[in-house]
Amino acid sequence: MCGIIGILGAGPAAPRLVEALKRLEYRGYDSAGVATLDDSGALTRRRASGKIRNLEAELDAAPLSGPAGIGHTRWATHGAPTTANAHPHATDKVAIVHNGIIENFRALREELIAGGRKFESETDSEVIAHLISAEMDKGLSPEQATASAVRRLEGAFAIACIFSGHDDLMIGARKGSPLVVGLGDGEVFIGSDAIAVSPFTTRVVYLDEGDIAVLTRAGIKVTDAHERLAARPVHVFSGGVAAAEKGNHRHFMQKEIYEQPETTGRTIARYVNAFEERVEMPDLDGVDLAADSAIVIGCGTAHYAGRVAEYWLEQYGGISVETDIASEFRYRRPAFGKKAFSVFVSQSGETADTLAALRYCKEQNLKTLAVVNVPESSIWREADARLPTLAGPEIGVASTKAFTAQLSSLAALAIAVGRAKGALSTQEEGRLVRALMETPRLIADALTVEPEIEAIAHELAQARDVLYLGRGVHYPIALEGALKLKEISYIHAEGYAAGELKHGPIALIDEHTPVVVVAPHDALFEKTLSNMQEVAARGGKLVVITDAVGAVACADIAKHIIMIPACDPFVAPLVYSVPIQLLAYLTAVHKGTDVDQPRNLAKSVTVE
Ligand code: G6P
Repeated sequence: MCGIIGILGAGPAAPRLVEALKRLEYRGYDSAGVATLDDSGALTRRRASGKIRNLEAELDAAPLSGPAGIGHTRWATHGAPTTANAHPHATDKVAIVHNGIIENFRALREELIAGGRKFESETDSEVIAHLISAEMDKGLSPEQATASAVRRLEGAFAIACIFSGHDDLMIGARKGSPLVVGLGDGEVFIGSDAIAVSPFTTRVVYLDEGDIAVLTRAGIKVTDAHERLAARPVHVFSGGVAAAEKGNHRHFMQKEIYEQPETTGRTIARYVNAFEERVEMPDLDGVDLAADSAIVIGCGTAHYAGRVAEYWLEQYGGISVETDIASEFRYRRPAFGKKAFSVFVSQSGETADTLAALRYCKEQNLKTLAVVNVPESSIWREADARLPTLAGPEIGVASTKAFTAQLSSLAALAIAVGRAKGALSTQEEGRLVRALMETPRLIADALTVEPEIEAIAHELAQARDVLYLGRGVHYPIALEGALKLKEISYIHAEGYAAGELKHGPIALIDEHTPVVVVAPHDALFEKTLSNMQEVAARGGKLVVITDAVGAVACADIAKHIIMIPACDPFVAPLVYSVPIQLLAYLTAVHKGTDVDQPRNLAKSVTVE
């Protein structure tokens, strides 16, 4: 999604704006721009379609001066990713950057055009600049004009504005999309997240829904949705600059895959009492884990984490579970059992559909539980209770460490539900907790298979279509494997339940179609082995991810075997996530695609 940065600083703003925009590249974008107030107090801007290096070239050719400015990375929604549509949008009075969607922009635009205003872009965002200008023309101050304009905007948005002739003023407003203020020494910043301001400060204020923040170098004044002065706490952002560096890795995605022993360990440790071999949940604020049923909602990778949780919650928790994609769930008027709770899985905590699904459940008086990676995000704040995932900032657009952190939190939840429902004995809980505690080590062992996967990835990179098969809890892992491969290598891939093979996908199999099978030697292995034989009989190239016992059983039919350490079936989805991530990553590297910022994808989808 789009990224925002604003600076009221001491030195030249433009180079710092560009530096911050580079931190926001991970969100996905297709144009970028900056505006500053020059020494005479006039607004000047540079914009470019494509990558930030194009913007840098514009700035090299015609630098911008002045210590105050705003910058933006745009992911096109209304209007193509052209320079004219790139932000900031400006009039002679104000320059603005905007994230989100202004739903009533057509009506506002017509009204403003009828009033004599000239539009330069096809964006919904430009109405904001004109609306504020129109209010200022009536004699309102920048602060009054912004508040008045914001009152007329419908939709979800975050904006930042600077004003000509006001070199010590920046205004930010949030409704639906996140916005943070960074506090430096005699400098202030605005960002679409804490990572944006992290090159300059670690002290951040997260704005609340409906807040308007008026910034000067001396400090900030926040008014809330009811236009009352509001005090917002200052947090220390611990993700910090180091977390947003690639370190020794070639890509953020690779770094994040390799962080998983640590990130799953951190997350599991949060929920496990290692001494008593018990799960310990935080205060769940009235969410009754002894319910009869649960609904688990998410999008993309987060949805697949929820699909794994469905198996866990039913098998170990003893409750009936329904999972759905947030964009479907929110519009299908779902009915709920009387004793139910709902779970929302999201890395960013800002996915528009997931947030809307959560609000729907709240309206139906269903208790809501958020499994979220970004603290203080919208889903985090609005849920009744939260089970944080402690993956740290995830920069690669394709989610990896957030997925296994989600699985870690959800596994702990399944155990807690099992205890609450009386479905698990103390001994069984002890076994599952021990298995969870072993997982970070098993993930570290699984990472050592990279060299073998490298050779297979060379072959996969030639494929046009790839099938992924899995059974039981590994069916969602097959879905996630296919999603990872298509996201970053642009190879068409489909995930199927292995038992469904004969009902259609078997028609796709020929000697050119690699079939990746996620098949630990568990209770369902023999069934999956039959499906592998069906593939082999039709000349399909089997890539089998299994353990030592499984490897022996399929040695004569598999073209390639990726051998993973044997593990308790409970935690196998976490461990088997690693080879499917590496397979996608190494295939994409071989193809030479933009691994960390795959085309057309956004890290956080804050529009429907
Ligand atoms: C986007 C991202 C995916 C992510 C999905 C849900 O599509 O590219 O990686 O799984 O959104 O995002 P969330 O932040 O809610 O987990």
